[in-house]
Amino acid sequence: MHNWHIYESQELAAQATADFLAELIKQSLQQNSICHIALPGGNTPAKCFHYLSQKNINWQQIHWYLGDERCLPVGHAERNDVMIRQHLWSKIQAPDKTIHTIPTELGATEAAAKYAAIMKNITLDIAFLGMGEDGHTASLFPGNIALKNLHSVVPVFNAPKPPAERVSLSVSTLQHARHRIVLTMGEGKQQAIASIKNRGDLPINSIGDIEWFVDTAASSAN
Ligand code: 6PG
Repeated sequence: MHNWHIYESQELAAQATADFLAELIKQSLQQNSICHIALPGGNTPAKCFHYLSQKNINWQQIHWYLGDERCLPVGHAERNDVMIRQHLWSKIQAPDKTIHTIPTELGATEAAAKYAAIMKNITLDIAFLGMGEDGHTASLFPGNIALKNLHSVVPVFNAPKPPAERVSLSVSTLQHARHRIVLTMGEGKQQAIASIKNRGDLPINSIGDIEWFVDTAASSAN
């Protein structure tokens, strides 16, 4: 069952997502000494990361993963880990040992195998994700063969969103996360959200129940 949280502005949606994530992290740390969180790439999450970085959390107890990574050289401006380091990890001085990036500079196939070994025996407490206008999440795109790959981490080829080659957590890994949170904003996402509300067959609609954080521009009428 999806749960929808709708806000008048992108600012409020980002702030509310950060508040919700912080509460979920604190609840998780009451049960376990480490909280394992996968983070989204793209443009949407930066503002939320800023608000999250201001929270009073013992960041040493958080281990960070990526929902996906683009196959680009280390340090490339378009890599998701570069964006997350800029907007979150650098602000909280996250210890290197708590940051688990995907080595996509090795190419999708080798990087997916290496990341699967890192993710072995890890169950995500929180999968924080974005959504594309076509209803993709992480790098799981409609009609892509990666959707049917049962491994925990999958190489992605022919992605419609550049770069074509990526690595992504699989549908199965996202389904097994204890919580799924999606922040998506802007009218470009409206059609995908309308489809999701009508049980549309989209990758993001195949990963389980989601706590949705959207602005009114993205949220459709029906
Ligand atoms: C990526 C992201 C991707 C992103 C969506 C939404 O590598 O591009 O991980 O899944 O979350 O495409 O992107 P925006 O937030 O830029 O709309």
